[in-house]
Amino acid sequence: MDLKTNFIGLKMQNPTVLASGILGTNFPLMQRVFEEGGAGAITMKSIGPEERNGHANPSVIEWEHGLLNAVGLPSPGFQNMEKEWKQLSKRNFPLIASIYGASVEEFATVAKDVALHKPDAIEVNISCPNTKEHGQIFGTSKEVSAKVIKAVKKEIGEISLIAKLTPQAPNIAVIAAGCEKAGADAICAVNTVAGMCIDIDARKPILHNKFGGLSGPAIKPVGIKCVYQIYESVKIPILGMGGISNGRDAIEYIQAGATALGIGSATHYQGIEVFKKICDEMQKWMKENNVKSLKEIRGVAHA
Ligand SMILES: Cc1cc2nc3c(=O)[nH]c(=O)nc-3n(C[C@H](O)[C@H](O)[C@H](O)COP(=O)(O)O)c2cc1C
Repeated sequence: MDLKTNFIGLKMQNPTVLASGILGTNFPLMQRVFEEGGAGAITMKSIGPEERNGHANPSVIEWEHGLLNAVGLPSPGFQNMEKEWKQLSKRNFPLIASIYGASVEEFATVAKDVALHKPDAIEVNISCPNTKEHGQIFGTSKEVSAKVIKAVKKEIGEISLIAKLTPQAPNIAVIAAGCEKAGADAICAVNTVAGMCIDIDARKPILHNKFGGLSGPAIKPVGIKCVYQIYESVKIPILGMGGISNGRDAIEYIQAGATALGIGSATHYQGIEVFKKICDEMQKWMKENNVKSLKEIRGVAHA
């Protein structure tokens, strides 16, 4: 069963993609995830306008149904990435860079620099707060999302643009359609869902930042619903993610309409071999159900 996937021009050995933020911007680690782990493409941690340490610990906790993180977008800053980019220029895997900013102008500045280093695609993380709009998350407004996508598109030329959306948008399908119109080549859904855990014995929030983003199995139904709705509102391909831990989860996202599949938290629970494992399980399901290619089942849940 062939899982080879062409996602916005990225020629992938299979549809799995390492999600952003999971293994940083470290080249040897990314190469291992591709070569030993079997991922089809690698997304870097989001790169921001300046050096940032992120939030104090505890910043990631594991609870019964997933992770809760408030790492706070730690970033070396786009100006301090020369060594990483030099190593990455020798890569043998499809690379998706990820960027964030606190204003439309900052997104454009970071995009311009990152594009010089020629990643295979640039993912625009519009799930972060806009400091000029009282901290409102960019991706919850159709107009603001479109402004960011337009500004980034102008700076990155021929490089493919993926808009990464927040499930906290009141209507994610409308945001996705706005991003497509503004020039996005693909949609990535979803980022984490806001949440909080309290240690009842200590009577205090567990995360130093109090609030964080949920990921892992708890958010799979959220991601599936978002991908399903987006599939009906855009023509561009979808990179689906949120709680994918096994082959059946992956097939579920494909049936909702995804072309590529992001895997993040599952690498924490199962190690980098999880990409190979998920592909093997997908192929087993396809064989048992007489499905020859993923095209046959993409979006079938809409029929
Ligand atoms: C520790 C951690 C850090 C993350 N950092 C980023 C990031 O820098 N940029 C981004 O777009 N998403 C980030 N994410 C979100 C993931 O890329 C992904 O959208 C989310 O975790 C859902 O997928 P999963 O359930 O497979 O983990 C982060 C997630 C985790 C758990």
